[in-house]
Order: sequence, then structure tokens, then C-alpha cells
Amino acid sequence: MNNVVRITVDGKVIELPVIVGTEAEHGIDISRLRDQTGYITYDPGYGNTGSCSSDITYIDGEKGILRYRGIPIEQFEQSPNFVEVSWLLIFGTLPTAAEYDRFSQLLTNNAMLDEAMKLHFEGFPKQAPPMAILSAMINTLSCFHPELQGPESDDGFELAAARLTSKIRTIAAFAYRSSIGAPYNYSDPNQPYVSNFLHMMFSNPYAQYECDEEVRKAFNLLLILHADHEQNCSTSTVRMVGSSGANMYASCAAGVCALWGPLHGGANVAVLDMLDQIHKGGLSAADYVKLAKDKNSDVRLMGFGHRVYKNFDPRANMLQKVAEKLLTYLGKDDPLLKIARELEEMALSDPYFVERKLYPNVDFYSGIILRAIGIPTSMFTVIFAIGRMPGWIAHWREQSLMSSKISRPRQIYTGPPVTDYVAKSER
Ligand code: CMC
Repeated sequence: MNNVVRITVDGKVIELPVIVGTEAEHGIDISRLRDQTGYITYDPGYGNTGSCSSDITYIDGEKGILRYRGIPIEQFEQSPNFVEVSWLLIFGTLPTAAEYDRFSQLLTNNAMLDEAMKLHFEGFPKQAPPMAILSAMINTLSCFHPELQGPESDDGFELAAARLTSKIRTIAAFAYRSSIGAPYNYSDPNQPYVSNFLHMMFSNPYAQYECDEEVRKAFNLLLILHADHEQNCSTSTVRMVGSSGANMYASCAAGVCALWGPLHGGANVAVLDMLDQIHKGGLSAADYVKLAKDKNSDVRLMGFGHRVYKNFDPRANMLQKVAEKLLTYLGKDDPLLKIARELEEMALSDPYFVERKLYPNVDFYSGIILRAIGIPTSMFTVIFAIGRMPGWIAHWREQSLMSSKISRPRQIYTGPPVTDYVAKSER
């Protein structure tokens, strides 16, 4: 391919440089287009727009490839834990033993919330959406830790990254405990990341939660598979907010808000609602598929389709296996899993879905796993956010160090032409 492309605008030929990525992805650099031609590009939804270059995650949506810092996601199936993967994403390499121990210790030491923050949880109504609480509380961390918010100092940044990675878990668990009127559980310094979170969620004064090893493994992999996904809606939001110079907590709190929507992370809740609706007999799986294809309805087959994956989502394939294995291990015969399989089979052989290249995505099976572990549906997207946090942190830092330019797209104005103000008395 060429290293420049030529376009003709109003009879004038201009050359635009081509940027080539590690995997031979080609992008046309239009950063001087407006200066040279007076034109801007138009790409609602940004499906053809590269907003940045990034060293963090590689996706090939046609081939179903996902790699973190070059490592194929399938290689995370067996050995690493979420803490190692977090380090990998945030700092760029797998941690040495010393780095791993230091970061783990920082996570342990920073799991607590300031006691004053506990009062905030009590101020929310019991039925408050946990994503609202999560976003508010992550932002609140800026009030309690106003120092060390810059990306420049390695030590300071490592501490801030550990703080956020650790405290999001505590905030999530406290939001849940508060919603059910149960006492908060402080973190247990002797437990690793995942089982510590489940302890904070589920231990009671009369019974300590014992984390089963198979449950820990499944949850660990689920977090890893959610950890980064390049320029998705929430990560782009984190980078966009960060580009204004906003601190890491504020930027990641905005990421939580973006993740909340049902077309993004909120889809894992919508999938469970959909399966439940089918199970409870409102509609059959076939009815639901029919409705999802009907352009007069606003129903979509939740957990299906992806902006980038047009073959299969490797995370969905891995999570399907985890779901089957975990349910068999726990001896749970979840009727929703059966319905999910039925929907998947129908959709994968239906021309509507085949032609549009709509395959199950990460959210299709994650809810079944979380449900088997005992996580309430209201917390599903919060768990997604815990998993996504290292990705957000990595992107926030990358963009803060790479560019001092504020993100500020343009638009094509389609409102009224110049119009005179009319005094109130004359309207
Ligand atoms: N059910 C039925 N039709 C669909 C679906 C679906 N789940 N997804 C896309 N389509 C159709 C859509 O109606 C359109 O049809 P037509 O060309 O006839 O107008 C075509 O497929 C292309 O859809 P699109 O909305 O232009 O595609 P997109 O790339 O903008 O959207 C998506 C991607 C993920 C938002 C979309 O597929 C969707 O809404 N899926 C359901 C929600 C979901 O599962 N979201 C989780 C995404 S993965 C994890 C994450 O990002 O958090």
C-alpha cells in the first residue's frame, strides 16, 4: 500500500500521509485536511475514525483476534491472574516477581475507603442504580486523594493506579451491601484480589464467605476478558475527558457512565432480562428472534453484534466454555443457559444475523456466569467496570503522556441560518 493517498477537492489534488500500525493497519492522516481544503470529514459513530494511535490492545474484528500488549487473549485462559494482567495493560510488560509483589501489596494497602466515604453510601436511596453510585464514588476519590493524580511520576502513578484498581472493588461491594441493608465488610489482607472482592460482597457477621477455587478461576478469567478493548465507548470517553487535563478519577468516573448504557456494558443486564423474559413465558426464543429482526420494533437481540467483531468475539467463545464448565461443576442446571444456547443456535443460522455478521459478544454469556456465582443482576455492569478499570487507567495515562491536545471534534451545522432575535412582546 502507498504511504500517501491523493484526493481531489474542488479540483485541487492534495496528498495525505498514511500511518501504518504494527499489524499493517492503514490509516489516512487527515489532521491537516481542513487547513488544506476547508473540508472536515463526517463519520457519525466514528466507525471509520482512528482517534489515536495506541500501544495497548490489538483487535482484528474480521479474524476474531484480541491481544493485550501483543499477547493473545487465549493465553490468559490458564495461568495469569487479573493483577498480572492489570499490570501488563497499565505498564506495558508482564510484571517481574518484585513488581508483582509490590503492586499486590499496594492493592492490599489501598483497599480501604476513607471512613467518611461510608456516609456517602448511606445517602443514596436503597434502590439507587449501583453504576450511579460507582461513578459518583470514583469521582469522590479525587476529594480524598487530591495528590498524585498526574501521570508523570512513576511511583506516584503506580500508587494512584493501585488505589483505583483496589478501591473500585471496595466501592462496588459497599454499594451492594448498602443496597441490601447489610453491614460493610472490610477487605481481608490475606485474600487475593478476586476472593477478597467476593468476601466483601458476601461475608456476613455470622458466616465468612469461602471462595471456591473454581469460582475464583471463573471470575478471574471474566475480569481478564473485560480488561481492555481499545477505543470502545467508555475508553474513548476516559481518553476524551482526560484530554482536557481532568484527573484520573474524574476521567474513569466518566468511563463508568459511558459503560452503563445498554448498547455497551449495560448489555449484560439486558441479556439476563431478555433470557428471564423468555423463561417466564412472555415470549418464546423464536418470538424474540423474530421481534429482534422486525424493523418496526425497537427490540434487539441483546448480547449479539459488535462494532468491530464481524466473525466472532473471542471473549464470548471463552466465556461460553467457562459458563458450561462452572455450571456443571456447581451442579446448577440453569434454564437460562439452555435458552441462551437456543437463541445462539437460531441466530447463527438465520440469514438476518448471518448477513449482518452478528455474533454473540462478551455480554452474552457473562451474566450466566455471574448469576451462577450469586452476583445479583443489578451488579453485572459494575463487575464489568471492575474488569475494565486497568484498561481505562492504561488509556488515561497513555493519552496524558502522548498528547497535550484536547479532544475536540467538529460538526456539520444543520440548524437555522442566521436569524434575528425577536423581543418577547412581539413573539
Ligand atoms: N439485534 C438485532 N439487530 C441488530 C443487532 C442486534 N443485537 N445488532 C445490530 N443489529 C442490526 C441493526 O439493526 C442494523 O441493521 P440494518 O443494517 O438493517 O439497519 C445492523 O445490524 C447494523 O447495526 P448497527 O447498530 O449499525 O451496528 P453498530 O456497529 O453500530 O452497533 C452494537 C454495535 C453492539 C451497538 C449492536 O450490535 C447492538 O446494539 N447490540 C446489542 C447490544 C449489545 O449486545 N451490546 C454489547 C456490545 S459488546 C460489549 C460492549 O461493548 O460493552
